[in-house]
Amino acid sequence: MDFASELQVLVARAEGGIDRLLPAASEPSARLHAAMRYSMQAGGKRLRPVLVLAASGLFGDRRADPLAAAVAVECVHTYSLVHDDLPCMDDDDLRRGRPTAHRAFDEATALLAGDALLTRAFAILAESYGADPGLAAALVRELADAAGSRRLIAGQMEDLLAEGRGGADPQALRFIHENKTAAMVEASLVMGGLCGGAPAGAAAGLRDAGRQLGLAFQIIDDLLDATSDTATLGKTAGKDARAGKATVVSVHGIDAARAMARELSQGAVSSLKGLPGDTGFLCSLAQSLLSRTH
Ligand code: IPE
Ligand code: IPE
Ligand code: MG
Ligand code: MG
Ligand code: MG
Repeated sequence: MDFASELQVLVARAEGGIDRLLPAASEPSARLHAAMRYSMQAGGKRLRPVLVLAASGLFGDRRADPLAAAVAVECVHTYSLVHDDLPCMDDDDLRRGRPTAHRAFDEATALLAGDALLTRAFAILAESYGADPGLAAALVRELADAAGSRRLIAGQMEDLLAEGRGGADPQALRFIHENKTAAMVEASLVMGGLCGGAPAGAAAGLRDAGRQLGLAFQIIDDLLDATSDTATLGKTAGKDARAGKATVVSVHGIDAARAMARELSQGAVSSLKGLPGDTGFLCSLAQSLLSRTH
């Protein structure tokens, strides 16, 4: 199968899991569940669940079906976007080509839908991997660490503080990117490895690949904000400069940012190539993210 078809298959598998593992929109409270599904089923590239599925596949999905873990990661990611878009954070009106959750519903509903998606992620892990308590505990720990106050939320906090200060130095920017974005990309590959039954030695390679891929991913996000348009992005372009955000463009400039993304993506590919199994799909995915348009 070529790269594009394989990607399509994994995205479809992730979306099937999302539909199956979220409460029905008719279940009380219907408004809350409708808002959760609205944000989860708005499209999105599904990068993180695809990474979970592909990483597990490297090891033949030996220990457990990775689909529920993939959905749990996407629930946490989507909650982080719903809250990131709120007026008290980035104040965005458009996400995944549609009005943001607080625009389509209201602020309180968006806040609660985010809370509920975060909580649902851990319920999905407990329900789906309870038969293998060691695996369930390792998955919960990995996701909680990535999403917690030392990683994703720390990155979000420092992102907002840098906006208030009118910028950041390279080291502070790296902290923001490593945590608000790379943490979840790392966790995706590591959780895939756990479901796959990866040998202990493979975890470091997965984590390093995820870190570099995540950093490259956020650099490209910053570049696209500065250089693309709202229709192509499906979210408002040019917002970072207007909000005075610390981005790779404001700290390093466009040309240096492009070079950094290339180097990090090559670093991710080298780490991936050191893993067992057929890493062709993951290497192509890492390369394709350099030229993504949204
Ligand atoms: C957006 O993530 C937030 C960042 C970490 C840059 P994505 O670009 O993966 O958003 P979706 O999931 O495809 O909408
Ligand atoms: C958000 O970074 C990262 C998250 C963890 C939500 P951004 O604020 O740059 O993401 P976008 O550009 O709104 O998608
Ligand atoms: Mg933000
Ligand atoms: Mg934002
Ligand atoms: Mg951005």
